[in-house]
Amino acid sequence: MDKLEMLQQWVRESRNIVFFGGAGVSTESGIPDFRSVDGLYRQKFDYPPEMIISHTFYEKNPEYFFRFYREKMLPLGFEPNITHRVLARWEEEGKLSAVVTQNIDGLHQKAGSKKVYELHGSVLRNYCTRCRKFHSAEFVKNAPGVPRCECGGIVKPDVVLYEEGLDQNTIEQSIWAISHADLLIVAGTSLTVYPAAGLINYYRGNRLVLINRDETPYDSQADLVFHQSLGEIISRL
Ligand code: OAD
Repeated sequence: MDKLEMLQQWVRESRNIVFFGGAGVSTESGIPDFRSVDGLYRQKFDYPPEMIISHTFYEKNPEYFFRFYREKMLPLGFEPNITHRVLARWEEEGKLSAVVTQNIDGLHQKAGSKKVYELHGSVLRNYCTRCRKFHSAEFVKNAPGVPRCECGGIVKPDVVLYEEGLDQNTIEQSIWAISHADLLIVAGTSLTVYPAAGLINYYRGNRLVLINRDETPYDSQADLVFHQSLGEIISRL
């Protein structure tokens, strides 16, 4: 039996799949990732991108932060791809219990997934830092300069910046899902950003599958590894 046949069999047998993903899940929708050759972090800006999307920078230079955020991190108008759609179908069929994602684009929900744990937040949720009023992503996209609520407060995207903590509830629910999974599929992530990457250590089974174009630090821990395009593999499951 080759690797793909084995994965096909595991998926057939599973009743409790958990999918853990990153930016590579959305590249086939047209949204660039961070660390591939054509990723966001390989482009040249006035400051290193990791610095721009840090809390300190956001506080000190919100004008620049929002210009960068709007142009590079606010992916509006993109559609789910085959991976998002297959995962939504598995959930509907009762085979998949959760998607844990580092992505902020909302494409899993757009494809129909219900149980999605967004470790790094979502561009679709934006709140006034003064009165807590909700604002849409379009509001932030179209605001001139720093987006401001009618009350005058800055509207901040519910996206985890560097130096900020992750939502504790989301972490706990992700850990619960991962530790109860019969099959854990980790895909489209370089597994270099913590604490997110460390969550896969909570998996207790023996069906850990890694699908990623580039190598990752966790390749040797996986039971099956595919260095291929995610869509290519998922479309055959
Ligand atoms: P990265 O850009 O670090 O990694 C994406 C991985 O996906 C790369 O290793 C690619 O090889 C792989 N990849 C890209 N397209 C693929 C495809 N079609 N099929 C298979 N593999 C593909 O993105 P993340 O691991 O998600 O955090 O990055 C983690 C975090 O770093 C992000 O959530 C973001 C960033 O800073 C915050 O903004 C807080």
